Amino acid sequence: MFRFFYKIFIKPVLFLFDAEFVHENMLGFGELVGGLNPDARSGPRQNRRGIWFLKKIFGRKYSELKQNISGIDFESPVGLAAGFDYEAKLTQILPSLGFGFQAVGTITNQAYPGNPKPRLGRLPKSKSLMVNKGFKNKGAKFISEKLKNFTFSNAIGISIGVTNTEKITTIESGIEDIIPAFKIFESGGIKNSYYELNISCPNLKVKIDFYNPENLNKLLQSVNQLGIKKPIFIKMPINIADDEALVMLKVIAENKMAGVIFGNLQKDRNNEVLKHEEVARFPVGYFSGKPTEKRSNELIKLAYQNFGKQLVIIGCGGVFSAEDAYKKIKLGASLVQLITGVIYEGPQLVSEINRDLVKLLKKDGYNNISEAVGTESRK
Ligand SMILES: Cc1cc2nc3c(=O)[nH]c(=O)nc-3n(C[C@H](O)[C@H](O)[C@H](O)COP(=O)(O)O)c2cc1C
Repeated sequence: MFRFFYKIFIKPVLFLFDAEFVHENMLGFGELVGGLNPDARSGPRQNRRGIWFLKKIFGRKYSELKQNISGIDFESPVGLAAGFDYEAKLTQILPSLGFGFQAVGTITNQAYPGNPKPRLGRLPKSKSLMVNKGFKNKGAKFISEKLKNFTFSNAIGISIGVTNTEKITTIESGIEDIIPAFKIFESGGIKNSYYELNISCPNLKVKIDFYNPENLNKLLQSVNQLGIKKPIFIKMPINIADDEALVMLKVIAENKMAGVIFGNLQKDRNNEVLKHEEVARFPVGYFSGKPTEKRSNELIKLAYQNFGKQLVIIGCGGVFSAEDAYKKIKLGASLVQLITGVIYEGPQLVSEINRDLVKLLKKDGYNNISEAVGTESRK
């Protein structure tokens, strides 16, 4: 019902406007309905009526979808991926839309106003978005101050990356920038949270090769010296060969990270799913959505088959339905994330995925989502 309303009435109107303008306004609206007002003198307050109403319609919980992963409770395996809520405006509203967790950021040590426009564009025939934000964000201190005032019913993934400046030219200077961002969030004592370390943003001026195993090892060893207790997941690229991915996964497992997220944007402009007339409209940026799905799934399978016992896998890329999410889970993902699917299918999508995932589980004879994880990769 809401899906029909969104697709026929809301989306055509939203798509008349500039994509970044709509994104900003959606965040503002979500913040308002969620009742977050960081400037309120009396401190943060929840808009209980707004949240109650949304919860009634979209927020149904299912025992079949509950999991505890790396010590964190997840009501649903479906979360919001990094990049959408980069100022932590949606933390109070997303649980009522059925989301089981969300990333905030990517946040960097120093604030960054964003790459020159265009930063966001739509490729509807390719079911994709062009992304060229380059870590537009207000910096670690600002977001940490904001987050520490709240409690969260959903786990918050604090996504941390390197500050986007050409001044950072070596792995040492990159690490010197990233470590203070972790320290800021650690001292903020953010409740119910985990970390995502984003080493795979393709839109940066920083040209450090974090995929090189020696560099990656140096970075992860430095992070480990902080003695962080919360789980840390590494946000991985998808434009890498299998052998390169395996070398990186080995370093990540040896450094005892909690897991990996496969993966980030599609860099290949000749990707078979991208419609070339749409790509030609965007001389800059890289691509989300369906063009990321195939490689994301292949890498989830590779990671599960080789490191499934050591690393938790979060699947991300091109999830537009419960079937898409279930595919990733059966390949080895314990959790999935999405952004682009919600833009094209509507804000009700995650509640629909939750409902339909339960049906898919029952059909396969599983009582809980964790029983389905990796079943297709074990064959
Ligand atoms: C608007 C937008 C901004 C993004 N920014 C980030 C980011 O800051 N950090 C990050 O790790 N990934 C970022 N991504 C990548 C997404 O987290 C995700 O990996 C990718 O879009 C594939 O998922 P999807 O097909 O469900 O969108 C961004 C994606 C979009 C669409």
